[in-house]
Parts: sequence; C-alpha cells; structure tokens
Amino acid sequence: MDSDPPTILEVRDLSVGYGGTAIVRGVDFAMGEGEIFVIMGPSGCGKTTVLKTILGLIPPVRGDVAFRGRSIRDPEGLSLFRRSSGMVFQQGALLNSASIEENVSLPLTEHTVFPPGIVRETVRMKLAQVGLLAFAGRRPGEISGGMRKRAGIARALAIEPELLLFDEPTGGLDPITADGIDNLILRLRDELGMSMLVVTHELASVFKIADRILMLRDGQVAALGDRDDLRRSGDEGVRGFVNRQAGSEAGAADGFLAEVEGGGA
Ligand SMILES: Nc1ncnc2c1ncn2[C@@H]1O[C@H](COP(=O)(O)OP(=O)(O)OP(=O)(O)O)[C@@H](O)[C@H]1O
Ligand SMILES: [Mg+2]
Repeated sequence: MDSDPPTILEVRDLSVGYGGTAIVRGVDFAMGEGEIFVIMGPSGCGKTTVLKTILGLIPPVRGDVAFRGRSIRDPEGLSLFRRSSGMVFQQGALLNSASIEENVSLPLTEHTVFPPGIVRETVRMKLAQVGLLAFAGRRPGEISGGMRKRAGIARALAIEPELLLFDEPTGGLDPITADGIDNLILRLRDELGMSMLVVTHELASVFKIADRILMLRDGQVAALGDRDDLRRSGDEGVRGFVNRQAGSEAGAADGFLAEVEGGGA
C-alpha cells in the first residue's frame, strides 16, 4: 500500500530578509519522514538563508517552521527540533585543535550525561558509519576535505537525530569524492531511515539523491517536484537549469559521435 509518510518538517509561507531587504518570499513545503528533500538553485538565491531560518538562527519576517507539528517559534518546539536534528555545516565547523574523535564526542559531552565509556563507544560507532574509524586520532588539518565532510556528518549523527540538515555537503570536492558523500547520504537514509534536508547547487548530487526538489530562484519557489517534474516544467528557466547537466552530457556524446562519424569511415 502506498500511503504518504508522516510529515517531519513543515515550512509555511516563509519570508526572510536582512535589515529590511526581502531575500526569501513565500517559501512553502512539507517534508515526509525518510525523505531526501533537496533545495537547489543558483548562487545567491537564498538557500542558506532558508536553512538558517529553519534552524532558528534568523527570525522570519513572515511564516513559520514546524518540526513534528510544533512551531520552532515556541521554545519547546525549538528545543525538540534541536534535540532531534543534526546540522552538517559547509566547512564542517570542526575544532582544529581537537582530534576527529574529540570533535565527534563534543555534542555528547555537552548535551548528554552519558558516562565516558558510552560516549566513546557511540563515537566509534559513528566514525565507523562514515568510514573514518581508522582516522579517529587525526586532527582536521591532517585529513582530506572529503574526510572532513565525513567527520562533520559523524558529529551531526552523534546525538542520533531523526533529521539531518546539510549545507552544500559536496561543495568544493572533486566529483569522485563528492559521489562518495552522496552514497553515504543515501546509505544513512536507507539503513537508518533518516530524513535529510540538503541544500546544494551541485546538479549531479541533486539527480543522484533527491526524492523531491525545491528550486529557488531570487528567493522564491520556481519549482517543486521530483526530477521528472522539473525536467518537464512549464518554466523555461527551470528546464534550462535542470537540463543543463543532461544536456551537456548528451552534447558531449553527440560531439563525440559527430567526430567519429565525420572523421571516420
Ligand atoms: N548576513 C547577511 N546580511 C545581508 N545580506 C545577506 C546576508 N547573508 C546573505 N545575504 C544575501 O542574501 C542573498 C541570499 O544569500 P544566501 O547565502 O542565502 O544564498 P545561497 O543560495 O545560499 O548562495 P550560495 O549558493 O552562494 O551559497 C544574497 O544576495 C546575499 O548577498
Ligand atoms: Mg549558501
């Protein structure tokens, strides 16, 4: 039977601005449990602004964000949301002076009363989940960019959240390393049933991981749907943006064939 999963996060008619200038207007969506929901769009369209507002870091001018039906404007709702969600920041936001293991243990030593043995076991399990157990003793400066992203994910996982939020999880990585992070995101959803909200402008990631996509343009929703909905969008700008990748791959293949056919037999 195909029944819709319960809603985990709801964003209603959200408008946000900085110092009186509207940046985001009327953004509206609901995310189901276990869904990978992607917010994409060109640089400067307001993706990070939406994410920061969802996290309660910027107060909206209008609209609301609810986690499990409870507004994050209500302090108890915000507290529930913070206990149940993990954020993976673009730069990893790791402490450079601490080991990877210490970095991942921070949320547990700060927000729980777990005894040290349990913290250690939990941290090692999270490091294993992201493939970093062998690097537990290294400092952030002693591992690669892709590994730092994994460490940031392990730290967000430490409190066993129901929802993970990512800002540009594959930003600045080479395509192979980025693909590894995308696979990790898919695995966390498939194996742990986690819900994920991912902000990105990397089309390869969008097409690989997204169940549904919200495309932002100049702070407004230009499209909302799955890949095929966006590819068939009546909006030329949306079609242009999402077909760019497919188009460039097809274009490259066409060029290659023309070359072979023209220059060959
Ligand atoms: N603290 C701030 N004060 C004033 N304006 C801001 C602030 N932060 C962002 N902006 C502006 O808001 C707009 C949206 O920025 P935002 O960072 O949300 O975009 P983005 O979609 O995440 O871009 P990118 O893909 O480059 O990360 C931009 O025009 C930016 O200049
Ligand atoms: Mg951003």
